[in-house]
Amino acid sequence: MTTPTGTRRRVLIGVGGGIAAYKVCSVIRHFTESGHDVRVVPTRAALEFVGKATYEALSGNPVSTTVFDDVDEVAHVRLGQGADLVVIAPATADLMARAAQGRADDLLTASLLTVRCPVLFVPAMHTEMWEHPATQANVATLRSHGSVVMTPASGRLTGTDSGRGRLPDPQEIALVGELLLDRPDALPYDLAGVRVLISAGGTREPLDPVRYLGNHSSGKQGFALARAAAQRGASVTVVAGSTADPGMPAGVDIVRIATAEQLAEEMTKRAADADVVIMAAAVADFRPISVADAKIKKGDAGPAPIELTTNPDILRGLVTARDEGRIPHETVIVGFAAETGDETGGVLDHGRAKLARKGCDLLVVNAVGDGKAFGTEDNTGWLLAANGDETALPFGSKTLMSSRILDEVRQLVPDGRGARPTD
Ligand SMILES: Cc1cc2nc3c(=O)[nH]c(=O)nc-3n(C[C@H](O)[C@H](O)[C@H](O)COP(=O)(O)O)c2cc1C
Repeated sequence: MTTPTGTRRRVLIGVGGGIAAYKVCSVIRHFTESGHDVRVVPTRAALEFVGKATYEALSGNPVSTTVFDDVDEVAHVRLGQGADLVVIAPATADLMARAAQGRADDLLTASLLTVRCPVLFVPAMHTEMWEHPATQANVATLRSHGSVVMTPASGRLTGTDSGRGRLPDPQEIALVGELLLDRPDALPYDLAGVRVLISAGGTREPLDPVRYLGNHSSGKQGFALARAAAQRGASVTVVAGSTADPGMPAGVDIVRIATAEQLAEEMTKRAADADVVIMAAAVADFRPISVADAKIKKGDAGPAPIELTTNPDILRGLVTARDEGRIPHETVIVGFAAETGDETGGVLDHGRAKLARKGCDLLVVNAVGDGKAFGTEDNTGWLLAANGDETALPFGSKTLMSSRILDEVRQLVPDGRGARPTD
């Protein structure tokens, strides 16, 4: 992955004394391979897990844990003031406690007091440590200071335990870090308690037990929305069809479906308990009228024509359900339009017509075809609002685009909706 902006930035990676320190080597590698100037500052406890030589070799820079090395350069001031992004991973319970208190008892915590750039804490610890009121209070304090504290993933922990507290995938940490380099204010903690339901990926309409009609959707845009919403505090459920992404954003629930009808059922059922519904999935308009029980044979007569029938219009169905009171009238509904221009109009014309037809609150319009949007890391488009506002979404990572979409969504979520406590 290359830097989205193509510029070399200074990234300070602070490593705490947790078992997940070895995974952070991949994060260091990501930022150096993206062309950034990386400085690694481990704590003394971190060096119990991974040695100084590894950090020096991976970053190409010297490593120290104390303010008393290179005193002539006053390292904690130089490192902190010079950084464009700080990533603390694994952020141990102890390290977050020290940072929340403003302690400066080693090079890392002293540097944290001199930074003016975005700071991303990536916690990793046992579930009990994460859920402890002291840790949660420290997390709240760090957020109130303007730091981004990632929601840990759920899964296998040290030993045989499993639960919430696992370090998110290095790829996820890198994507969130790159977002903060692109846009330092991209992740305010302003969706706490807001329930966001997102559809992602493509649907597959079976023809027989081995074949299906599908599309090129990778699910990356839906996952990017989930990533950005979760890190802004939302409780996020993704209903996903076929996707190319290896993992899922941390702290997000996932429900798997295959067909458009299954997607319609899940979205309609779950929308009643959501504050925001975003339809980012690429849903097949049509499906085969019947599914063969056995594999269709080649035969001598050549292929039989495939008869198709129309799938449910999920976005329109959600708006109708809201109009009829089956889902709360204040639910914010966002659609996506993947368009190609044709002789009847350009991409934006088709988007405007779709917004009017569907009746949703916001419609994200992007051009597809010629390698655009489907499967790519970056995206661009327009955000059309029911009130007639039209905002250009500049070219950038799908996570960056998601942060801009969520800014507009946040304006539409009624006051008080974002105030419920969340984990
Ligand atoms: C094997 C082992 C694994 C540990 N893993 C974690 C962990 O994942 N998260 C955590 O918060 N503390 C963990 N600890 C405890 C920390 O190492 C300890 O609190 C230490 O003081 C943290 O130092 P720091 O502030 O430099 O990160 C672990 C300790 C041991 C011995």
